[in-house]
Amino acid sequence: MIIHGKNLNRSASLIAIKGERFLSLKKGLLVGSLSGLVVGLFFGCFIASQRIHDLQSQVENMERNMLPLRSLADARGILVGTAVSATPLRNEALYAETLSREFNILTADNAMKFESIHPAQNLYLFEGADAIVSYAEANNMKVRGHTLVWHNQLPSWISMGSFSREEWINILRDHITTVVSRYQGKIYAWDVVNEAVNDDGSLRDTVWLRNIGPEYLDLAFRWAHEADPNALLFYNDYGGEGLNQKSNAIYDLVNGLLDRGVPINGVGLQMHVSLEYSPSPQEVAENMARLSNLGLDVHITELDVRLELPVTEEKLAAQARIYQELLEVCLNVDNCKAFVMWGFTDRYSWISSFFRGYGSALIFDSSYHAKPAYYALWRCLLNSSFDQETSDGS
Ligand code: XIL
Repeated sequence: MIIHGKNLNRSASLIAIKGERFLSLKKGLLVGSLSGLVVGLFFGCFIASQRIHDLQSQVENMERNMLPLRSLADARGILVGTAVSATPLRNEALYAETLSREFNILTADNAMKFESIHPAQNLYLFEGADAIVSYAEANNMKVRGHTLVWHNQLPSWISMGSFSREEWINILRDHITTVVSRYQGKIYAWDVVNEAVNDDGSLRDTVWLRNIGPEYLDLAFRWAHEADPNALLFYNDYGGEGLNQKSNAIYDLVNGLLDRGVPINGVGLQMHVSLEYSPSPQEVAENMARLSNLGLDVHITELDVRLELPVTEEKLAAQARIYQELLEVCLNVDNCKAFVMWGFTDRYSWISSFFRGYGSALIFDSSYHAKPAYYALWRCLLNSSFDQETSDGS
């Protein structure tokens, strides 16, 4: 019942604030009209709009401070998180404050990728990744490690490298063992292999497939498990969220790993979607359910909902509905343990550089004001915490 109590207090405080602000709003308008009808009206309206704006921000801040997303998520037993950039984390107080207030899990957006962490054969650079992991520890947040084996963001010594098969195997083993061991006990889940499957279900032609063969997948998971037996190990991809050729192929792939005794714990559904295209919630639920039948967890790992600019209220409302539907799916299946977005503020999002004409994909705007999508997630978590309390009989 703790949440009910908090919620009552919250409503009472909000009503009190609203009353007080309403009185001062009326006073502002009266003073305005005494100074002359035209000027007064103009002045009164100005004060009113300023105060309404002021009031909105105060209410927003109160709500967020009292019950941020992570408190609701903790109460509901789910992880809610975001990808994080090391630079604003170091340099921008509001970025760091919002991050630790709202989320209980984070992912490094680029800091753990091969090109960042292992730029030359005998050089590992851990600074960015270390900063993110330490920040998470200090703020009691879990970390998703992203990513050990991928075809993108490779340093040139890999993408242009020429080695024997045995050397490629040693390179990949060294990379995985070094990175996973460094953060042993500190990473909740690793995206061991990222985006290995094409849309038609075939294996993607990557440096790893070409030089090692399809067994690179088995090897990667085994080496990661040896280096940190407690980290959960995930296969992560986009476009296989609903039911289609790609998600069928991912299903077969992870099923094959399990059959061969390869240590894998889950599938990451990236979920980079748009207002025009997002997978049907029903299909996502069915996909999650069939993975659950294999004994696998799922994480939503990189959710963002891009929209074609300019932003309108209608588009933000439609975006909020998509965020909400996807969270509801995750809350309604037993094996969806994390709901992670690819960033939280439109100030730092990959969308505008990768999708021309699109933007505003995240739940805070570029000034860190919560958008309708934030409140949709907030309400959804609040309701689901109530439901859980009720069904727990408390
Ligand atoms: C993106 C980053 O956000 C960008 O900063 C970078 O330039 C390119 O990669 N799928 C993934 C992520 O698995 O690692 C990608 O991140 C987005 C698509």
